[in-house]
Amino acid sequence: MVSTKESRLVTLEEYIIQSQNRFPGATGELSQLLRDIGLAAKIISREVNKAGITNILGYDGSTNVHGESVKKLDLFADQQLISALDRSLITCMVISEENDGVVKLGSKGGKYIVYLDPLDGSSNIDVNVSIGSIFSVYMREPRFDPAVREEDALQAGVRQVAAGYVLYGSSTILAYTTGLGVSIFTLDPSIGEFILSDRGIKMPEHGAIYSINEGSYNSWDEGLKKYIKYCQEEDSETNRPYSARYIGSMVADIHRTLIKGGIFIYPHSKRYPKGKLRLMYECNPLSFIIEQAGGMATDGQTRIMELQPKAIHEQTPIYIGSKKNVQTVMEFLEEHA
Ligand code: AHG
Ligand code: MN
Ligand code: MN
Ligand code: MN
Repeated sequence: MVSTKESRLVTLEEYIIQSQNRFPGATGELSQLLRDIGLAAKIISREVNKAGITNILGYDGSTNVHGESVKKLDLFADQQLISALDRSLITCMVISEENDGVVKLGSKGGKYIVYLDPLDGSSNIDVNVSIGSIFSVYMREPRFDPAVREEDALQAGVRQVAAGYVLYGSSTILAYTTGLGVSIFTLDPSIGEFILSDRGIKMPEHGAIYSINEGSYNSWDEGLKKYIKYCQEEDSETNRPYSARYIGSMVADIHRTLIKGGIFIYPHSKRYPKGKLRLMYECNPLSFIIEQAGGMATDGQTRIMELQPKAIHEQTPIYIGSKKNVQTVMEFLEEHA
């Protein structure tokens, strides 16, 4: 006798098909793309969970376009995601943190462009702290032009057709949106399926957590310094002082912000004059998720998803989280500009 709980299990595959059936004109291609990402996520999760006993920790010896030393798991995740996307001939090109230029896939006629941060939080791999993968999907314009060009990929975040992340934490979860709210799935390794665990997430309007690397305090703008001091003052009305939480993996910091509320900030600094985080494969996809849950994401002045990219690897400062928290920090930045 199957318990009622078991009978309510909805797998990622079933959920994607159910969602697709709500769109009579849907061709099923985006559904297939999301399933491909789900498959790669399971393979990466298996590798992450035994990283300590297989030779997948440590550096690969190369550096990426950002001058970062590349970890073996960065490359493993990159290869798994790209080969999964190359299987179903619907993605014409992939732009990934770990590849300098665009990766043109076999399917020249594919109508999707996918941005990837294949492994986010690489500095945490060797110390067993949560890491993630991030994806962002665009429709290619003009469609079916056999010449696959990099400039086709330079689209503002508002044109994303889907975005999401995988978080390899105490459990492995996959969160995604196609613009109809955020759905979250938890991997049950005993059956190798992502099971629906939450949907239609709405994040708190205001949160009592701030998340920033305080090591770069000396190079912050005056307004940001004043805002962080504001977070630390006593005020029971606004639940201050806030708690400080910083994991160093953007996916983990954003997932906590999605669930508990608050604000995550990566500002520009002396070391990163344009900010460290990448617009197209970190900030846009995570902003899409946070906005779909009722939150907000800006570069300090402009909505992240309205920034017009000029380069596929460009960086941006980011202030992202509960609407009230982001509005307050923007007031501080403006007041002390
Ligand atoms: P990645 O591992 O994909 O290069 O991303 C690392 C990013 C992001 O995950 C995190 O929020 C940020 O780097 C942490 O940077 P600091 O170590 O400078 O705080
Ligand atoms: Mn990196
Ligand atoms: Mn990253
Ligand atoms: Mn990365």
